[in-house]
Amino acid sequence: MQKKIWANGEITSFDKISVINHGLHYGTAVFEGIRCYDAQRPAVFRLKDHIDRLFHSAEVMGMQPPFTKEEIVSAVKEVIQENGFRECYVRPIFFYGEKMGLSPIDAPLNCFIIAWPWGKYLKKDAVSVKVSSFLRISDRSAVMTAKVSGYYANSVTASLEALKEGYDEALLLDHEGYIAEGPGENIFFVKGNTLYTPREGAILPGITRESVMQLAKEAGYGVEEKKISLKELSEYDEAFFVGTAVEVNAIANIDDNVFKGEEEVTKDIKNAYYRAVHEREEWIDYV
Ligand SMILES: Cc1ncc(COP(=O)(O)O)c(C=O)c1O
Repeated sequence: MQKKIWANGEITSFDKISVINHGLHYGTAVFEGIRCYDAQRPAVFRLKDHIDRLFHSAEVMGMQPPFTKEEIVSAVKEVIQENGFRECYVRPIFFYGEKMGLSPIDAPLNCFIIAWPWGKYLKKDAVSVKVSSFLRISDRSAVMTAKVSGYYANSVTASLEALKEGYDEALLLDHEGYIAEGPGENIFFVKGNTLYTPREGAILPGITRESVMQLAKEAGYGVEEKKISLKELSEYDEAFFVGTAVEVNAIANIDDNVFKGEEEVTKDIKNAYYRAVHEREEWIDYV
């Protein structure tokens, strides 16, 4: 997949790890998904914010990375450069290594960064979504502001269920029955000139979500974070997913509730996001 990776401080092409691996057995890895765009030169979107979240996730899992944030920021750029990518997806991952038994105390910590070209994540401009029978993990079960690999078992079961039933993507509810998020992305709804999105708590508060809220406000839209129930869905005109991987992707329907797709507000926000990732200097780190 990737030619050159960054492994514990060095650029190498080696990417084999022991199967006796705490991260593999117990999901004790923390990671980020970051996109780099071709803006005349490679432009990494909100790199420092992603690395801040990576270190927050590491802290939640009791990890003490032997690298500073600044070193990881430079290493991300180095991986992009070494591979000669103009546009790519970057995945820094920290995981506990060779130790069995649940406690990770004294387990070695591995720090890797890999990158690969990754085009459109959801394959349709407007996706069909199934409300999952699985609930999103509650903030009483896990620290939802962290991006921990073990949490993704919840996302994977929801995705498999949706795909098996012929949908493109899943939508998970929180433990109170309100809409939380997709398996790997946040969600927005549109009514008139206002955007609505589930409040923080049972969601990963995404960097794209925050960017979109800011861009929408600047474009003159109202933005409201609130509890959103399935019963309300018919009131909304448009719905879209946001996230580093999915970027801004329209939703055609959620179960039987049909939305307008990639039109009007969704299109406007998608364009504003496209411009921001290519041009908005304050959010870009150039390689
Ligand atoms: C569960 C989940 N929610 C939301 C997001 C969106 O987060 P971001 O916009 O920071 O990529 C992601 C992706 O990282 C995710 O995995």
